[in-house]
Amino acid sequence: MSSETSVGRSGQADVAPEELPAEEREVVAYYDALAPTYDADRFSGSYGAYLDGLERRALRRWLQGPRVLDLACGTGRFLDLASEGLDLSGKMVERARTKWPDKRIHHAPAWSIPADDGSYDTVFALHFFMHLHLGAIRRVLDECRRVLRRGGVMVFDFPNALRRRLVGYKASGWHAGTELMASDLRMLGGGHWRLVASRGVALAPIHRLPHAARPAFMAAEVLLGRTLLKHLASYQLVKLEKVD
Ligand SMILES: C[S@@+](CC[C@H](N)C(=O)[O-])C[C@H]1O[C@@H](n2cnc3c(N)ncnc32)[C@H](O)[C@@H]1O
Repeated sequence: MSSETSVGRSGQADVAPEELPAEEREVVAYYDALAPTYDADRFSGSYGAYLDGLERRALRRWLQGPRVLDLACGTGRFLDLASEGLDLSGKMVERARTKWPDKRIHHAPAWSIPADDGSYDTVFALHFFMHLHLGAIRRVLDECRRVLRRGGVMVFDFPNALRRRLVGYKASGWHAGTELMASDLRMLGGGHWRLVASRGVALAPIHRLPHAARPAFMAAEVLLGRTLLKHLASYQLVKLEKVD
């Protein structure tokens, strides 16, 4: 894909849809269509709020500031925790800019962040790497390494390959098509990162628990998600530190 971006009126980089190859255009079209209902569909119900709560808790503990980029920020679900956002879907960016008029929100691909080397203390990317093939994940990690200061941190999540194998789940297509083992991180990071923390999220099939039982279960999940059971959770959240 072209890494060219133009700079819009606001000084925020913009990307023209026709510059994108077919695969990225499909992803953008999907999220452009989803943008108006994303917040309500994905995170306003009790299951979504449960996941949001666990993710937010880890982010609050792990983020280093003040310069924090929310990569693939979508509608800006976590922009309260970031100083800037970035997303490739124009409609998602529009929603995020409406919700967060004072934040700088870039319209650009994640492998071409319009920022100087060493600009950020933290980059985080939630519910994003699951959409990327391994080569693209490596490319995004390289770009995050460029824009992070030495000692800066990268936080992201990925579906657990082990869990998927155990339950016989087979992903098809780009949507959540990528799953990882924790051991893949070393290969993807190329020796430039150190794993400093990880958590399992959604250990139990939360959607099968009665709504009233979910808040109580969250406390247990916070504890169990730190143990080796994290590898059996639906997905893992990890914090990597840039070492060189
Ligand atoms: C499932 S949403 C997650 C949004 C947000 N991080 C959250 O957790 O609510 C995935 C987001 O990734 C964005 N995205 C997909 N491919 C991208 C790329 N190559 N560069 C930047 N953003 C991308 C989509 O537009 C979408 O907003």
